[in-house]
Amino acid sequence: MVETPHGDEPLTIRTLTDADLPAFSEVLASAFLIDPSEEFLVEERTVFEPSRSHAVFDGGTMIGTGQLLSRRVVLPGGGPAPAGAVTSIGVAPGQRRRGVLSLIMRAQLELLHEAGESLAILWASEGGIYGRFGYGLGTQVTRVALPRGARFRRDVAVDPAPVRELPRERALPLIRDLYDQVWHTRAGHLDRTGAAWEYHLFDGQERRHGQTGYRFAVHPQAYAVYRAKPDWQERGPRSTVNVHTLAATTPAAYAAILRYLLDIDLVGEVVLRLGADEPLVHMLADPRAAVRTTVDGLWVRLVEVDRALMARRFLVPLDLVLEVGDELCPWNAGRWRLAAGPDGRAEVTRTDAPADLALDVSTLGAAFLGGTRLSTLAGAGRVRECRPGALARASLAFLHDEEPSCLELF
Ligand SMILES: CC(C)(COP(=O)(O)OP(=O)(O)OC[C@H]1O[C@@H](n2cnc3c(N)ncnc32)[C@H](O)[C@@H]1OP(=O)(O)O)[C@@H](O)C(=O)NCCC(=O)NCCS
Repeated sequence: MVETPHGDEPLTIRTLTDADLPAFSEVLASAFLIDPSEEFLVEERTVFEPSRSHAVFDGGTMIGTGQLLSRRVVLPGGGPAPAGAVTSIGVAPGQRRRGVLSLIMRAQLELLHEAGESLAILWASEGGIYGRFGYGLGTQVTRVALPRGARFRRDVAVDPAPVRELPRERALPLIRDLYDQVWHTRAGHLDRTGAAWEYHLFDGQERRHGQTGYRFAVHPQAYAVYRAKPDWQERGPRSTVNVHTLAATTPAAYAAILRYLLDIDLVGEVVLRLGADEPLVHMLADPRAAVRTTVDGLWVRLVEVDRALMARRFLVPLDLVLEVGDELCPWNAGRWRLAAGPDGRAEVTRTDAPADLALDVSTLGAAFLGGTRLSTLAGAGRVRECRPGALARASLAFLHDEEPSCLELF
């Protein structure tokens, strides 16, 4: 239990060292309503980057935490770009709404600015927290629930190679190799270093919620990691298969791993988290078999507007002036000329020319990965078109041929 004073001294903030990890994980556990434990500490240690972590102190007591993992995210049409992956955000109960998170958010953005990193990304525990800090809703995630045995259309090719369940140690090198083959092909996907893999597949009790440990189903060109929740009812078994992650290098292998998951005995329902335009629904003989619920996915914050925009590619040539509002990062605020050529590359430079579109940095963050149309955001009253025609052109240019997807919690 973190004992939290509520003193008169001003709050202080600093970056951390390895020695801070126990206090850091204790604040986090208290913030997330879980019991602190050795296992939770081990989980936090897998990815802890002290020099990119912050804590806020009231006197000598740590009361708030946050860290920036060093990850890379795939951009539309471009390569992977470094991103500060914001995580471990927690403020001890009893210390909230006195500006602790705000201090951390500001310190993180300054750290990234000084390091020359142009993007920050995060998953939000609650959807109302991060918009005020310039984060926009960049991707969405769809929870898909399918009945066991849901059939595919007859024209769906299923790769005939067998799917085998393997022990974790044998599966790991195979699935890492498969992920390495595909991650850079989809905007929104993240690179995965050894530490990130360890965290991704950390299998502590606290993550299980009454389910089995991870099970590894591996096909030569696809894999799925899932948990099962046994459920025996009077009319027979109705267990749930919860898919944690899957990947495939070909459409037929994607069909093979899904077919395997849908045909496991004793199961009532298979639940997956998928990107917005995942092919699965279009493979089903009855698309209505998939019950879908869509929620916010990855939140995106442009820390350096010009460099971030120059790192991605644009779908059609574009030449316009954006007027960007950004209270927290004044270096972003003002007018930028965005000129993208036929190869999709853009030059982004300061300008005094009149604006064609005016929007807040969180709105630009929402459109940045190509997952939310600028025209949709304009419909929400978040983009002002100052020159007729500019919106339609920009909306198209910001898209990509596939929607971005990020399904990895970090
Ligand atoms: C979310 C959390 C980190 C906020 O910390 P905090 O120190 O209370 O935040 P601040 O005092 O800096 O608040 C800044 C602003 O955000 C608002 N805000 C804070 N938490 C909010 C929430 N959960 N939903 C909506 N708005 C929120 C505040 O009202 C304040 O608004 P204002 O500027 O208009 O006054 C804290 O409540 C917490 O630890 N929650 C549990 C763990 C968690 O969810 N962590 C986030 C993981 S992604």
